[in-house]
Amino acid sequence: MSRRAGATALPLMLAPAAAHAGAPLQYLTTQGPRADPATVLLWGLTAISVVVTLLVSGLVVAGVLARRARGVREPAEVPVLSGGGGMRWLGWGVGLTMVALVVSTVWTVAVIAQVNGPPRPSTLTIDVHGAQWWWRAAYGNPDPRLRFETANELHIPVGSPVRVRLQSEDVIHSFWAPALTGKTDTIPGRVNETWIEATRPGRYMGQCTEYCGLEHARMAFFVQADTPAAYAAWARAQAAPAGAPRTAEALQGEQVFEAHCAQCHTVRGVAERGRKGPDLTHVASRPTLAAGALPNTVAALGGWISDPQAIKPGNHMPTPYLSGPDLQAVVAYLETLK
Ligand code: CUA
Repeated sequence: MSRRAGATALPLMLAPAAAHAGAPLQYLTTQGPRADPATVLLWGLTAISVVVTLLVSGLVVAGVLARRARGVREPAEVPVLSGGGGMRWLGWGVGLTMVALVVSTVWTVAVIAQVNGPPRPSTLTIDVHGAQWWWRAAYGNPDPRLRFETANELHIPVGSPVRVRLQSEDVIHSFWAPALTGKTDTIPGRVNETWIEATRPGRYMGQCTEYCGLEHARMAFFVQADTPAAYAAWARAQAAPAGAPRTAEALQGEQVFEAHCAQCHTVRGVAERGRKGPDLTHVASRPTLAAGALPNTVAALGGWISDPQAIKPGNHMPTPYLSGPDLQAVVAYLETLK
């Protein structure tokens, strides 16, 4: 690398960072104490590498130019000689390399130790289960009336560390919300733990990041960080059982749900045995459907129920084959589940 090429390489390396600033899964800017130290480390190690590369390249080029300027003609074989100052350069080279490597290693180990556990005891634990191809999020509570489950979204209060207990219901998945934390696998038969904390309110995108079958790419989630008051209001609303249907159509829809959907889906207060699919007690409060594959609109919900395989081929929801009026009724019913 020439000196000139070296000077243009740095902006080229930094350009992707700027281009990614608005990307939902970008990991170069982070928003919490679990992820921030790793980001500083990332930039720090990049800077050390760039400095070392520029230094070594510069010395090689300077050495070549200096010999050319003195008109030195290299013989075919250069004899190895002691003395003459060569050993001094080797000493400098090895010494500086050791400094760079030791700084990088100590810094890396210190960051790993720093983010390994939360800085303060966590006040909230969420059990997150990876499943083909969605995320179950269970909010436990000593009081059974305050327990609830949601799907494909985690809500957390800002400024508190949250423990995330990860399990799998089938194959290995991996939990990744890059603005808040690195990747942690969900492995069948064991519980892995990670933690997250958001410094600022916002919606932080997440994605399964371990290939887990046909719809791996459509296994997204998000973490919604809210003020403690807004989070508490959300949790209270989620813990409440489903409201009773108010219209004749919604009432018919509830019956359709019980007949066709309740084997796999729970609506608390109505049918509570279905465990295979997401808990739908407050499905209408969620902004997305099918693990981020669809916006939660009447049209998308109708399309999803009428033919889930067309939208997410291979997913484990069978086509319920509902009549037109039954489909409309069940959509009207699900829309009431705020
Ligand atoms: Cu689950 Cu990839």
